[in-house]
Amino acid sequence: MAEFPQTPYFIGLNEPVGKDVSFTGLPVEGTLPDEVRGSFYRAVPDPAFPPKFADDHTLSGDGMISRLSFSDDGAGHVHADFAMRFVETARHKAEKELGRARFGKYRNPFTDDPDMAGVDRTVANTTPVWHAGRLLMAKEDGRPYRVDPITLETIGSHDFGGALKSETMTAHVRVDAVTGEMFFYGYEADGLASTKIAYCVVGADGALKSEQWFDAPYCAMMHDFTITENYALFPIYPTTADLERLKAGGEHWHHQPELESWLGVMPRYGDVSQMRWFKGPKGVFCYHMMNAWEDDAGLIHFDQCLSNTNAFAFIREPSGIHMDPSEIHGALTRWTVDFNSESNAVSESIIGPPGDFPVIPAARQGRPYSHGWMLTMNPDLQGPPVFGGPVGAMFNLLVRLDMAGGAPQALPLPVGWCYNEPVHVPSAQSGHEGWLITMVDHQTGENEFEHFAWVIEAGDVAKGPVATVRIPTRLRPQVHGWWVSAAQLATAAR
Ligand SMILES: [Fe+2]
Repeated sequence: MAEFPQTPYFIGLNEPVGKDVSFTGLPVEGTLPDEVRGSFYRAVPDPAFPPKFADDHTLSGDGMISRLSFSDDGAGHVHADFAMRFVETARHKAEKELGRARFGKYRNPFTDDPDMAGVDRTVANTTPVWHAGRLLMAKEDGRPYRVDPITLETIGSHDFGGALKSETMTAHVRVDAVTGEMFFYGYEADGLASTKIAYCVVGADGALKSEQWFDAPYCAMMHDFTITENYALFPIYPTTADLERLKAGGEHWHHQPELESWLGVMPRYGDVSQMRWFKGPKGVFCYHMMNAWEDDAGLIHFDQCLSNTNAFAFIREPSGIHMDPSEIHGALTRWTVDFNSESNAVSESIIGPPGDFPVIPAARQGRPYSHGWMLTMNPDLQGPPVFGGPVGAMFNLLVRLDMAGGAPQALPLPVGWCYNEPVHVPSAQSGHEGWLITMVDHQTGENEFEHFAWVIEAGDVAKGPVATVRIPTRLRPQVHGWWVSAAQLATAAR
C-alpha cells in the first residue's frame, strides 16, 4: 500500500484528511450577528490517494467542498452545521475505482497511466463559485464541477449547457454586483501550453452571453484577473508552460525572471481586437488581485498582491531559482494605466503590506473602494509561523486596509495559530462594514491541531471574534471560500 510522501506538502497541517464528514448543531460561542445567516463554502485540496510521484505538492489534491451553515432553528437559537465532501470528479471516481493514483504530475497528462488518456483530470479544488443560483467548484486547469449547495453532492462538469468552447475556466471569476453578470476567462483554452485565452461573460441568469478568444504574449499561469465598470484586465506574469517540457515528463510551470510582465486591457463589452498590452516589470508574479477601478480622470488602477518572484518553491526550484525566503518580498501594489494614452507604460505604487488573500465587499467589485482586508505575517510574532499550505508558512495577521490612506487595523494571532482566507458577509445596516468569517487553525502538538470558524466584525477587526465555532475534525488548509447568504440560497437553481 503506497504511503503519502513525508515531504512538507503532506505532513503536519498539510497531512491529508481524506474523509467526508458531517456535523450538525455545533455550539456557537459568543454572539452570532443576526445578519450572518447562510453558508460559508470552502475549497480544500485533499488527495484521496498517495501521489504517483513523490515530488507532488498541495495543488494536485482532490477537491473537497466544505460548508459551514448558520441558520435559525425557529426557537430563538442559532444552528451551526458543518459538512465536507469530495467533489466526485471523473478523476476522483477513476482513482477510487482502483484505490490508487492514476494521474501523474501536476497538470502533466503525459505522466498519467496510459488508460487515463482523455479522462477529465481537473481536481476542482480552488474556489467555490456562487452565481445564478448555482454552486461551482472551479480550478483553472479545467471546467468547473457543479455541486448541490445543500447536500454537497456532485452534479457534474459544468459547461453552461454546452455553450462553453474553452476547455478551461479560471477559479477567479468576477461578479459585478450591479449587473449580476459573471466575468471569467480560461487560459490554455484549447490545450496544454497554448497561448489561447477565452474571455467570457455570463448573464445574471447563468447563460453564457459571449466567449471571445485572444492570444497571450506567452503561455503564462493566469491565476486571477479583474474587471472595472468599463474594462476587463488580464495580467500576464512570467510563470510559463512549455509543451516539449511536458512531453518529456517535466513540470507544467517554470518561472522565467527574464521575461516582462504584461497587463492586457480591453473594454469589458468590447471586442478582443481592442486589447491593449501595457508592459510591467520583469520577473514579478501575483496570485491575487484585490480590485481594479477607474478614477474620475479615467485612469485604471489595478491593485494586486505582487511579489518579486513566484511564491511557490515547487515552481521556483525546478526553474533553477534558488532563493532564500528572506529574498522573497512583495507588497500590495497598484499599477495605473491610461487606456486612452499612447503610452503602454504602467506606473507602480505601493499601497499595502506584503501578503495575500485580499477581500473586498462584493458590492465594490470593479469600482472605487474605501477599504479591504488581507492576510499577512505578524512582524512582532515571537516564534515561527505555523507550517502549512503550499508556501510552508501560514499567515498570522489579518489587516483591514483603509484605501484612502488611514491607519490600518490588525488582528494578530499568537504563536501556533494561523488564518485561512476570510470571506466577507455584507450588512444591510448603513455604515456597517459587515463581518468576516475565517477558519483559524491552532497547533496544539507536534501533529495535533484544532480548528475554529471565527466571525469578526469587519470594521473593527482588532477586537477579535464576536462568535466562534469549533470544528471537531482535522482540516487541511483551505484555498478559497465564498459566502452565500440564506436569501441567496433560497434562490438555488434546480
Ligand atoms: Fe487563488
